[in-house]
Amino acid sequence: MVGGRRLSGQVVAAGAKNSALPLIAASLLTEEACLLDRVPQIRDVSTMLRVVEALGCTARWEDEHVLWLKSGAYLAPQPPADLVREMRASVQVVGPLLGRCGAATITTPGGCAIGPRPINLHVQGLRAMGAKVEEDGAVIHFRADRLHGADILLDYPSVGATENLMMAACLADGRTFIRNAAREPEIVDLQSLLNQMGARVRGAGTDVVRVDGVSRLRGAHHVVIPDRIEVGTYLAAAAITRGDVTVTDVIPQHCEATLAKLAEMGAEVSRAESAVRVKAGWRLRGTTIRALPYPGFPTDLQPQLTSVACLAEGVSFVQEEVFASRFKHVEELVRMGADIRVEGRVAIVQGVDYLTGTTIHAPDLRAGAALVLAALAARGESIVEGAHHLDRGYENLPGKLAALGAEVRAFPAAGGHHTTRVTA
Ligand code: UD1
Repeated sequence: MVGGRRLSGQVVAAGAKNSALPLIAASLLTEEACLLDRVPQIRDVSTMLRVVEALGCTARWEDEHVLWLKSGAYLAPQPPADLVREMRASVQVVGPLLGRCGAATITTPGGCAIGPRPINLHVQGLRAMGAKVEEDGAVIHFRADRLHGADILLDYPSVGATENLMMAACLADGRTFIRNAAREPEIVDLQSLLNQMGARVRGAGTDVVRVDGVSRLRGAHHVVIPDRIEVGTYLAAAAITRGDVTVTDVIPQHCEATLAKLAEMGAEVSRAESAVRVKAGWRLRGTTIRALPYPGFPTDLQPQLTSVACLAEGVSFVQEEVFASRFKHVEELVRMGADIRVEGRVAIVQGVDYLTGTTIHAPDLRAGAALVLAALAARGESIVEGAHHLDRGYENLPGKLAALGAEVRAFPAAGGHHTTRVTA
């Protein structure tokens, strides 16, 4: 990649990764076919499809973004360990498997290397619903002839636990309350699919979700919501390159935290019915960012905004409240000339006049996105290694950036992984 070009133009948002993954898992709850529209073509979706296929689901792309899913009458209880290790969201199949078949076995899940990510809240909730849970080293066995409703208070509003428990509760006997539930838009999207399938779920988007169990679910057709994290990444690209980018096909309310933060930093921000625009032909100001559960600022955009802060005027404080260790991008940003000091969960960023392109390594998905943004604004050429992490969550990132005027190229690296080159 060659940095220094102001990005400008329009880009269409893809469907949300974090919706598509639990929605694919939800299709396991019925033997009837489910049709999901606007599914992003990203590697996490392919991994999730491999997971559900291994369990007995047939998946077919009907069109570029239209996915047809049909689960068999019999489902295997255990997703392949290598896939679970590759992607933490695989744990989302436990709720549907328990609901449909009364058994599920899972190896401890993987995903981005951003600190310890236990599944104790999933386990506690499923136990409260009557599941017998046995841990055998890295393997956890869940069993329940039939789950029953329960009143569950989550210690923390975990997105994954809320979704898993919602899905498990759909086919349980009686009523389940999930209190201190996560309120992310992706939870509302899941509720919407489940209710189309005949479930009785209320309250998604608030901190209490109520599910009345039903005996069976049917097929449904659902359109995935836009990816607010992808949208935020393109808005941050506009901000860091002092460009002017409009993202279309979005739900502006879902992007409010990002828009408000970029406006506070001095960018010109506008919202239309289904589009958002960020214009920043000047240097932005430093700010304070606190990554929190929704509707707070999303942790999945914290690394990207840290990159923006690197070139803003003055000091920024970036506080990470969701994950224990999510500053893996910092070391690489510093190699590009950024002035950042990490103290516990806070990164103190002193804005610098410029960053310098170099070879940097993407340690995970969103940290990788942060490095691409820094490379877009840096002087000279950058090579982002480990860019295969970006394919997990961004559909055609190099192509979309190039369409906005970036000089960027993806090329294969050893081991089948690809590297992204940005030159200015
Ligand atoms: C989801 C998103 C991920 C995002 C995260 C927070 C998907 C597929 N992934 O991940 O992109 O970064 O929400 O917005 O939707 N925790 C526990 N015990 C548990 C579960 C979680 O302690 O049983 C902790 C985690 O370690 C973490 C925090 O809770 O510190 C948030 O995790 P959670 O909301 O569960 O994130 P995920 O669902 O894994």
